[in-house]
Amino acid sequence: MVFETKNKISPNINDYNIDSIRDDFPALSLECNGYPLSFLDSGASAQKPSKVLERMDHAYRNEYANVHRGAYTLSQQATDNYENARKTVADFMNAKSSDEIIFTRNVTSAINLVAHSYGRNFLKAGDEVVISHMEHHANIVPWQLLRDAVGIELKIAPIDDAGNFLLDDFEKILGPKTKLVAITHVSNVLGTIVPIKKIVQLAKTVDAKVLIDGCQGIVHEGVDVQSLDADFYAFTGHKLYGPSGIGVLWGKLDLLNAMPPYEGGGDMIEIVTFEKSTFRDAPARFEAGTPPIIEAVGLAAAIDYITSIGVNNIATHENHMLEYATSCLAEIDGLRIIGNADKKIGIISFELDDIHPHDISTIIDSKGVAVRAGHHCAQPLMERYGVPATTRASFGMYTSEGDIDQLADALKYAKGIFG
Ligand code: ALA
Repeated sequence: MVFETKNKISPNINDYNIDSIRDDFPALSLECNGYPLSFLDSGASAQKPSKVLERMDHAYRNEYANVHRGAYTLSQQATDNYENARKTVADFMNAKSSDEIIFTRNVTSAINLVAHSYGRNFLKAGDEVVISHMEHHANIVPWQLLRDAVGIELKIAPIDDAGNFLLDDFEKILGPKTKLVAITHVSNVLGTIVPIKKIVQLAKTVDAKVLIDGCQGIVHEGVDVQSLDADFYAFTGHKLYGPSGIGVLWGKLDLLNAMPPYEGGGDMIEIVTFEKSTFRDAPARFEAGTPPIIEAVGLAAAIDYITSIGVNNIATHENHMLEYATSCLAEIDGLRIIGNADKKIGIISFELDDIHPHDISTIIDSKGVAVRAGHHCAQPLMERYGVPATTRASFGMYTSEGDIDQLADALKYAKGIFG
């Protein structure tokens, strides 16, 4: 029987009630092509617990109006919800103040905000920005646009074949011209946990600012921005079991207030005349126009939900799933995992014989397994490993051993098709 271990509770973490957690996520009871859905694409976007869906539904039905604009009760309630969500995010990241939390559309818009507002005003031709070889396009392209606009130079910190970030080589790249280091917390392809604390410490020795792309990292590791002491940290709601359409840029307040607005419009101004405008302090100066009101409420509900389970408990569960999946996949002849860093999260990219990842993904979808296949918005990393694409299974707090058994069986089926 192929799916008999579905939702089996791991013997090592009996206090983590995977069945009850799975029950919280309506999508996990879906069937796909006649099979139970094995959802292994949380790295692209996570499923949402009922608490998030219900909270957003309630707010749309009972607490909805625009924010910061109305003196009436409903608008005040919506504004309170929106600002309380900012406080929830600030507490989750251990920010000094809610004013350091800017709601954006996603991480891409957060990084573009920094590249545009900080980059175009504080960096000049010849200054160096350091990124790593395993960045997502969202942390490559904005810096290339900046390079084309102001003439900065882009330096690439290398990784080894296993996918470990090479701190010694990174240190050698740093120098008096280094003004900004923009590095991912966790690789979305390899699952590598990057030593961001050490990176910040080294960057400070040359007085460089540091931006961390926390898209994958905060979900599995959490973050304490005061202890980390970077200058910017960005993450997105939809990978954190919250809604799409909302991201967060955390920044040090004096830095944010020294930066000019990125977008102009309503709510970010103090006074507007036809001659000139003056701007409010952060976070308002970076939130032009109607913001993601209900998305903020949903993000706060997601954070409350995660906190109630415990970031550490989730990480322990996911580590166990990573070990279990790594050993299951190792039993499949011709399967090569790309990314075996010393410290990694529950993301496994792999090749299977010479079957194209898109074919693998399509075939295993016929067995109810959802994975991502492609270059994962990390084409320079694909080139580093000499592959055009990989298949990627990525785990979440609800991933079960049954999901992984279903993946392994479906991969054997795919292998059988190609002989
Ligand atoms: N950045 C997301 C991923 O890695 C979309 O799949």
